[in-house]
Amino acid sequence: MNPNESSRLVVVSNRLPIVLEKSGSGHVVKSGTGGLVRALTPVLSHRGGVWIGWLGYGEDEVADLKEALGEGSRSVGYDFEPVHLSRQEVVGFYLGYSNSIVWPLFHDLLGYCSFDPDYWYTYLHVNRKYARAVHETTRSGDYVWVQDYQLIHLGAYLRQVDEKRKIGFFLHIPFPPLDIFVRLPWRAQILRALLAYDLLGFQTWRDRRNFLTCLQQLLPEVRITGKGTVVRAEAGDRTVSIGTFPIGIDYRSFASASGGEDVRARETELRSRFGDCKIVLGIDRLDYTKGLPERLQAYKNALERYPDLHRKVILLQVVVPSREEVPEYGSLKGRVESLVGSINGKFGTPGWVPIQYHYRSIPQPELIALYRLAKMAFVTPLKDGMNLVAKEYCACNPGHGTLVLSEFAGAAAQLQRGAMLVNPYDIEGMADTLHAAVMRPDDECRVRMRKLKENIRKQDIFWWVDRYLRAAFDRALGDFPGQEEYLPRMSLQGPNRE
Ligand code: UDP
Ligand code: G6P
Repeated sequence: MNPNESSRLVVVSNRLPIVLEKSGSGHVVKSGTGGLVRALTPVLSHRGGVWIGWLGYGEDEVADLKEALGEGSRSVGYDFEPVHLSRQEVVGFYLGYSNSIVWPLFHDLLGYCSFDPDYWYTYLHVNRKYARAVHETTRSGDYVWVQDYQLIHLGAYLRQVDEKRKIGFFLHIPFPPLDIFVRLPWRAQILRALLAYDLLGFQTWRDRRNFLTCLQQLLPEVRITGKGTVVRAEAGDRTVSIGTFPIGIDYRSFASASGGEDVRARETELRSRFGDCKIVLGIDRLDYTKGLPERLQAYKNALERYPDLHRKVILLQVVVPSREEVPEYGSLKGRVESLVGSINGKFGTPGWVPIQYHYRSIPQPELIALYRLAKMAFVTPLKDGMNLVAKEYCACNPGHGTLVLSEFAGAAAQLQRGAMLVNPYDIEGMADTLHAAVMRPDDECRVRMRKLKENIRKQDIFWWVDRYLRAAFDRALGDFPGQEEYLPRMSLQGPNRE
């Protein structure tokens, strides 16, 4: 941020980065889950500031809320400011508009959308509420940085009461192509609301290109100028900067935790439990964008076509519960579990269970031990803003592993040179790649993993925040390697399967 100002960094997201867990008669603060929270936590711990957001389910039952939050703030070094949502607001804004309209639409999954007009009105009402909370808890010199798709209108509402505010927005999820975006009944309102910010950040050039195309087609009066990492949109008397800022992870912290004694001891323990079997690892929230059924089908296909994998490989799939009240998430759980059961039933033998399935959130040291252990990370979202699991795996793995990554994850743009890319809709292609990755000699893996680590280390979460804030305060940015638009190479690759 601008070092000459005594301004604070104010992050606003739908959720606070913490959950309160019962402990005796009171509550303790625990870290929340998901990419946004995991990525931004080190940023605020490093810089200090304020984080404004919802505490999640059960906030009303916490009688010692103030004490628990105060205690939590002291331990992490920045302040929490909770926004309370009523049950009706959670239904219309969080489960409804955010996760039954924008989330599926922006991931190109139109069939999962339910365009209920009530959701829209509740979304506007809740965004106004967040804007009020920001206005009441911040000073005019603070930099307000709004995160993600749930709060697009916050900036416009804040500007109504404080026109001169410096407000930025970062979209963690993809921005869809024009022909998908135009299905949104409130498409013009969303574009105009985005133009209320001073700086808009997207994960990849793909997302920014889609956004600019939508602007040009739907609001032709907006003039776009400049080129490179940040371009400008002139809309009436406002100029909005629009940039590409691929989010990273706290590489050093992951790499150093991975070398820690506790993690290594856990890895050894797990290794002895799995014997000589190579571990293929999947870590995902239970979300239909993550391509879980397709991945399981690919694993099944690999076991059918490559008998040399039998008793030699285990797919360890951790599925973190998510948005359980949205009906599509519930039905996905049934589908995933039935596939796991049928694959284990068909291929399992005494002493070998082909898929180890865990439906829960796991603590960070356990996660890092799994990243160390795995011969391959199987990261195959149908579409993803970035995908931090891919980066965390590379940061933690000692080098014998291979990252198999979906072409449609935002991370593919940066990691295409060291990862094996797959089309997550191509079951046979994924099965072939899995076989090749599991069989790849460790030495060959090390060379690629070194490249990946180097990239993730250089373009880490502090690089990301620094570039964003430099752009926010009109400082020179310079281009960065690998920023050029990623064009999928899949049509020219892969075995001939005619
Ligand atoms: N993660 C977590 N709890 C777990 C397993 C993983 O919080 O039990 C974290 C993981 O370390 C990663 C994030 O969840 O930082 C997932 O981020 P990603 O970008 O891959 O996907 P998202 O869930 O944000 O769609
Ligand atoms: C993704 C979204 C975040 C969201 C997270 C977890 O990373 O981009 O905005 O917080 O998933 O989802 P949840 O609905 O539990 O907050």
